[in-house]
Amino acid sequence: MELRKTVAVITGGGTGIGRATALALARAGAQGVVLNYSRSTREAEDTVTELAELGCAAVAEQADVADDTQVGALAQRVLDRFGRVDVLVNNAGTTHPVPHQDLAGLTDEVWHRLLDVNLLGPFHCARAFASALAEAGGAVVNIASIAGYRAGGSSIAYGVSKAALLQLTRNLASALAPDVRVNAVAPGTVATRWQTDLHGEAAFTERARAERESVPLRRTAGPEHVAEAVLGVLGMDLVTGEAIIVDGGKHVVY
Ligand SMILES: NC(=O)c1ccc[n+]([C@@H]2O[C@H](COP(=O)([O-])OP(=O)(O)OC[C@H]3O[C@@H](n4cnc5c(N)ncnc54)[C@H](OP(=O)(O)O)[C@@H]3O)[C@@H](O)[C@H]2O)c1
Repeated sequence: MELRKTVAVITGGGTGIGRATALALARAGAQGVVLNYSRSTREAEDTVTELAELGCAAVAEQADVADDTQVGALAQRVLDRFGRVDVLVNNAGTTHPVPHQDLAGLTDEVWHRLLDVNLLGPFHCARAFASALAEAGGAVVNIASIAGYRAGGSSIAYGVSKAALLQLTRNLASALAPDVRVNAVAPGTVATRWQTDLHGEAAFTERARAERESVPLRRTAGPEHVAEAVLGVLGMDLVTGEAIIVDGGKHVVY
């Protein structure tokens, strides 16, 4: 897929991995980038400014991906503005830390919110943009997690939501073929606010240092490493239904 002159929608695009992906797409010549956000207005607007400085037509659009009505309205605004969509990056995600042994603490409320945002959100967006993506011969990339492969991560519900997202990736790859490719990128630990929100700055610095000792590539990923994989898989024209793990080789040795 040629990324020059494409229009991309990135959910959760104002911060972290979404922001890094937006900047990488702009540097690759994307004509337009839509940064979806739910609460982080200032971050989304700051990223719009950065993208404009790269010559990319960028807009920030508020919508809670868990809400299908809001996603439908988002799709309409995007199509009114740009008239096409080539790339959808389903990056928006949320978590709520609950120790895995604390089954009582993992309430239905937590389950519903995590599944609504992390699983139904990508489905809502894929459904809303499916026709436009098909018309453009486009592609979807879902941001999953290594927590979708093993019994780790911030809660059981988070890991299950990401495992389901990997399956949704395969299902949509089949359902939207031959016009639209659908792949996933599954990061391990990535140095974004996600980690510092979960653990605090000092504890995350120590966790990352400890992790580097056991990870084969001996490095902690930045959001730009995940963006690199997103752009890589977007460029692979005969790959669909696949997931690329970006964790410095952690999953090979755990
Ligand atoms: N950092 C890691 O270690 C790591 C590892 C594996 C996977 N991931 C995945 O990577 C993705 C991005 O995370 P990140 O590390 O870049 O952290 P982040 O900066 O906190 O990004 C999360 C993004 O999701 C958006 N978001 C959350 N709920 C939303 C909703 N209901 N509707 C629309 N947007 C919503 C947030 O925007 P608002 O603030 O506006 O809500 C934010 O921009 C997530 O899917 C996460 O599960 C991260």
